[in-house]
Amino acid sequence: LKAAVFASGTGSNFQAIMESDDLMCDIVLLVCDKPDASVIDKANHYGVPTYVFNPKEYATKANYEEQLVRRLHDAEVSWIFLAGYMRIAGTTLLEAFVGKIINIHPSYLPAFPGKDAIGQAFRAGVEKTGVTVHYIDEGIDTGPIIEQVTVPIFPEDTEEMLKQRIQRIEHQLYPKVINQLIQVK
Ligand code: GRF
Repeated sequence: LKAAVFASGTGSNFQAIMESDDLMCDIVLLVCDKPDASVIDKANHYGVPTYVFNPKEYATKANYEEQLVRRLHDAEVSWIFLAGYMRIAGTTLLEAFVGKIINIHPSYLPAFPGKDAIGQAFRAGVEKTGVTVHYIDEGIDTGPIIEQVTVPIFPEDTEEMLKQRIQRIEHQLYPKVINQLIQVK
């Protein structure tokens, strides 16, 4: 079973997926919309082919997604795991991979969707936040939830401490949920 990871940032979740001993699929492609993202170096390190594109070079979302879908089909990808991909999927991509695109988000959704979810929770002064893995739809962090974990926020925390606690959970949770999903489907 072949899968692609979409990421636009540092790629610590991509790395966690690649380092997972028992992952039950092959990551055959890294898709990235930021040509200078450091996740690309990580993909090179693991020998994972990359598809890097600049959305600004295309007139419409449908234009770049058509090419992207072609590339994904060429690579025989059947699952897509978003890991810090900062773009909303359009109908072209969603219709080509119905029920096969999941995302990890650093909050207990529906609380704190969108950008800087960790900072949002930290500034809100709440006692807990979390991590969510969910299917994606046309919205921002709105698709059906697959699995969630709560993460405590302690009074003495800095935002950086909270971020590290959340990321440790993400790195364990994502490979685990991926295995569960691809086994049942
Ligand atoms: C993660 O916190 C993920 O939940 C969110 O974006 C972040 C990506 O971090 N969607 P990294 O690039 O995997 O380190």
